[in-house]
Amino acid sequence: MAKLRLHGKIAIITGAASGIGEATARLFVEHGAFVVIGDIQDELGQKVVSSIDSDKIVYKHCDIRDESQVQELILCTIQKYGSLDIMFSNAGIMGSSTRLLEMDMASFDESIAINLRGSALLVKYAGRAMVENNIRGSIICTGSVSATAGANGPFGYTVCKHAILGIVRAAASELGKHGIRVNCVSPSGVATPLSCATYNSPPSEIEMVSATISGLKGIILKTEHVAEAALFLASDESVYINGHNLAVDGGVSSMNTAFLAIWVSFFQLKLQSFSSDW
Ligand SMILES: NC(=O)c1ccc[n+]([C@@H]2O[C@H](COP(=O)([O-])OP(=O)(O)OC[C@H]3O[C@@H](n4cnc5c(N)ncnc54)[C@H](O)[C@@H]3O)[C@@H](O)[C@H]2O)c1
Repeated sequence: MAKLRLHGKIAIITGAASGIGEATARLFVEHGAFVVIGDIQDELGQKVVSSIDSDKIVYKHCDIRDESQVQELILCTIQKYGSLDIMFSNAGIMGSSTRLLEMDMASFDESIAINLRGSALLVKYAGRAMVENNIRGSIICTGSVSATAGANGPFGYTVCKHAILGIVRAAASELGKHGIRVNCVSPSGVATPLSCATYNSPPSEIEMVSATISGLKGIILKTEHVAEAALFLASDESVYINGHNLAVDGGVSSMNTAFLAIWVSFFQLKLQSFSSDW
């Protein structure tokens, strides 16, 4: 490797027991970072650590709904590695709340607690640790195409992902005066346990629909592509980028909404199999 883009940096990645977070953890370690995975899937998280087989990665149980566990995650990271340079707030759920009119409010609340409040806690405590330790850090949140358009996913999910942009923009202006950057990475459909379970589809089906929607042909969106975008935002190569939403969607969020109609049809079709009153 020509250059280790995160040489010696200390990073926390939430939701790295699988999917996008896992791919990012692998890439960050390859690029010289020390990584702490925060997740609730302890066995899977430990498996990721063993498979990377490096003293540069550890797993720490952290349910991001719980403020004290978020504080503990950050404290442990600083105690173990001495600093915190990068926070990748990536853990999330799609939730089962579907249409607005039949929405189950318990499911909506769960989505808010994890996708929105959990992200706000991670940004708050990471920002605080960076300010206290005088670190010009990088905070990245995982958004989605659902952060800028409706109808891509469950109602509660779309609401939360829009609000993630609010967190990023508000935090970017507040933390920018301390030299801390806050940005967002927003993928379209990528095959992970989250998308496969939500749409009750194998990875090949998720990838087929995602590729059909994308304006960029001849390539299929993989978790590694999202990880590369997170690496860019974490590294000094994006040193003047702040408050930005980096779409990793083959251009779909900037194209004619007719393309999105395909995704909506797929989404509705899939949910029909779960909901007889769709
Ligand atoms: N897969 C997609 O199509 C897609 C598209 C756009 C955005 N995203 C976003 O990407 C992020 C990662 O999702 P993924 O697709 O890699 O799915 P994933 O299911 O593989 O990963 C999500 C991780 O979050 C963890 N998690 C869930 N609740 C948690 C909690 N309370 N505390 C700590 N960790 C928790 C899970 O255990 C899991 O390891 C999410 O924020 C998701 O909304 C995914």
